[in-house]
Amino acid sequence: MSHAKSRLLIAPSLLAADFARLGEEARAVEAAGADWLHLDVMDGHFVPNITFGPLVVKALRKHTKLPLDTHLMIAPADPYIAAFAEAGADHISVHPESGPHLHRTLQLIRSLGKKAGVVLNPATPVDAIAHVLDLVDLIMVMTVNPGFGGQAFIASQLGKIATLRGMIDESGRNIILQIDGGITPATAPAVLAAGATCLIAGTAVFGAPDYSQAIADLRAAANRTTLPDLAVSTG
Ligand code: DX5
Ligand code: ZN
Repeated sequence: MSHAKSRLLIAPSLLAADFARLGEEARAVEAAGADWLHLDVMDGHFVPNITFGPLVVKALRKHTKLPLDTHLMIAPADPYIAAFAEAGADHISVHPESGPHLHRTLQLIRSLGKKAGVVLNPATPVDAIAHVLDLVDLIMVMTVNPGFGGQAFIASQLGKIATLRGMIDESGRNIILQIDGGITPATAPAVLAAGATCLIAGTAVFGAPDYSQAIADLRAAANRTTLPDLAVSTG
């Protein structure tokens, strides 16, 4: 399986951090072994919550060398993408529902030299990305409805993850398959078995007393999947 070559990536979501100490929290998870830092941008319109914009991304950029995995839950997204790119976002992921022209949006992200991602809500079918796979570096499956941390994992998405794994393998492209929402050491084995290569976790990392242990516990979940090849590759 092609994903067996991928190292498991852990992306703590800053949504569950102490917002009065964001720089310090970013440095702490980098020191604790995170691979990416996941940034949830919410506008109070596309999702029923508000977080932060490009100014905060720019401020965080000075605190960490981790790739900034930027999840835009805003509509429209296109007018703000250049600002996030300039602020230092490394990956920019959008929901298909946030604008009328997903293909154009992905072209825009790539034209700015950033990795482009598409995020699928629980009710969004995989067909939404079938014809733009050539422009996609990351696919994110929401296993909660976007807007809040600390929600319960929606297990009905496991079939979607497996379908996407098949689509990615068939494409022959090195697309990272991320899972966002309700990820814990208890839910991680099932999503890894279904073919995920990146775990996004807010509460499970920032809600834990020891970030290093929390990240290690998520990595250990790879050893409890039914895919021995993946377990070996993430050793
Ligand atoms: C929700 C965000 C998630 C959130 C996950 O809209 O996209 O990244 O931080 O939080 P947990 O891991 O607590 O479910
Ligand atoms: Zn997110």
